[in-house]
Amino acid sequence: MFRHKPTVSLLILHCFLAVGYVTVAAKADVDSLQGKPIAGCSFEDSQCVYHVNLGHHGTCDTTGKDGDTVLMKLVKLQNMLLEQSLLTQAVSMKYDNVTMVIQKIRSALNSLDAVTRHELQPLLQTVISANNATRAELAPVLTRLQTLEKEQGNVLLWLNRIENERAQLLLKVDASSKVYSSCSEWKRNGHHQDGHYLLDVDGKGGVQAFYVWCNMTSSPPTASIGHDRGLRTKTVGYEKVGSHICKVLYDVTMRQLTALMSNSSNCKQYFKYECHGALINTGGSGGQSTWWVSRDGENMTYLPGGDPKLGGCACKRTNTCAGGHECNCDMNDLTWRQDEGYITDVSKLPVTELRFGDTGNAGEQAYFTLGPVECEN
Ligand SMILES: *[C@@H]1O[C@H](CO)[C@@H](O)[C@H](O)[C@H]1NC(C)=O
Ligand SMILES: *[C@@H]1O[C@H](CO)[C@@H](O)[C@H](O)[C@H]1NC(C)=O
Ligand SMILES: *[C@@H]1O[C@H](CO)[C@@H](O)[C@H](O)[C@H]1NC(C)=O
Ligand SMILES: *[C@@H]1O[C@H](CO)[C@@H](O)[C@H](O)[C@H]1NC(C)=O
Ligand SMILES: *[C@@H]1O[C@H](CO)[C@@H](O)[C@H](O)[C@H]1NC(C)=O
Repeated sequence: MFRHKPTVSLLILHCFLAVGYVTVAAKADVDSLQGKPIAGCSFEDSQCVYHVNLGHHGTCDTTGKDGDTVLMKLVKLQNMLLEQSLLTQAVSMKYDNVTMVIQKIRSALNSLDAVTRHELQPLLQTVISANNATRAELAPVLTRLQTLEKEQGNVLLWLNRIENERAQLLLKVDASSKVYSSCSEWKRNGHHQDGHYLLDVDGKGGVQAFYVWCNMTSSPPTASIGHDRGLRTKTVGYEKVGSHICKVLYDVTMRQLTALMSNSSNCKQYFKYECHGALINTGGSGGQSTWWVSRDGENMTYLPGGDPKLGGCACKRTNTCAGGHECNCDMNDLTWRQDEGYITDVSKLPVTELRFGDTGNAGEQAYFTLGPVECEN
């Protein structure tokens, strides 16, 4: 009656946990992205060979804490799925059993005479309502299971962290690995190809070296750091202001990221909000329905591209927002509109959390896209 999908899920997780399969699994998933920028970083001769563009569709619930290692997160997720799958099996078996009993009673009733049938009717009603109760018990369990299954999407995202952790280990093993302090320095030393390069941004003794994506084509070269919200993601069904909470987990630690930023000349991060009846500013003293949270946990009152003093979105700077509002999305007219721009204030970067709302009523929905942190480096 109900399929027990977790069995399959667990198998997949076991594969992920066996380190030997990690790269294969990542590649298979990457191939399935089709046409999207290729995600993941595979090390061949300790060189990273493809670009990382992380992120996923769906919910923003994550398993584990920021400080957890990838394996800790995987183990937690695996345990949750196991527990959940046992629970689902128990409840749905109970449901199936009672359903079977009901069918048996029904067919027994049909073969009885009218009087007996009439007498037994209340008993059947009792059994049916007990079954209904079991079904009600099953519903939230299945919902939770679906959430957990979505969580598995995050596994792919954590792989990039594994790659970085592995890079650190490789570095320890192979002390001869070359490392420079910036993309520009790599370029000056003859590396003109875009790719993943190992940087030790603050020299010996500071933060550990880490991989960044160097765009050597741009001038000066830029270093990009990705995160787990890299893909265009839908937000729908969250009416209350800021009630859809998306934490952003970066591919390197916050200390490494801030070290990179303080060693770079200009840094920025792109954000786009495509809205359909989902406004950003609620108007009056209602504050914002959608906002971002800075590195230090501050709720930011302007949208990326907007003026920190003026507030609002990029269009506000030139007074060109639809309907003369603070943002194009504030038009709130069930027409697809969008606001986009870069955050350039290094003291606030990176975006650590996104908060969305006003997507709970009929027809209301939105998509958001958060770019990597890009620094001239
Ligand atoms: C369901 O029925 C099977 C066999 O008929 C039995 O082994 C099992 O314990 C029952 N499960 C529940 C939850 O009642
Ligand atoms: C059980 O649920 C069905 C459908 O949800 C409903 O039609 C029926 O009235 C319920 N029966 C009892 C006894 O609660
Ligand atoms: C590198 O930077 C250049 C110039 O800014 C840009 O046109 C190009 O798309 C970038 N390459 C990648 C792979 O992002
Ligand atoms: C970055 O750090 C390196 C090494 O510590 C230093 O030589 C370089 O000048 C720094 N660059 C910037 C832009 O701060
Ligand atoms: C940011 O806003 C949220 C939701 O309104 C609130 O819970 C939180 O305390 C605020 N944070 C700060 C630092 O003001």
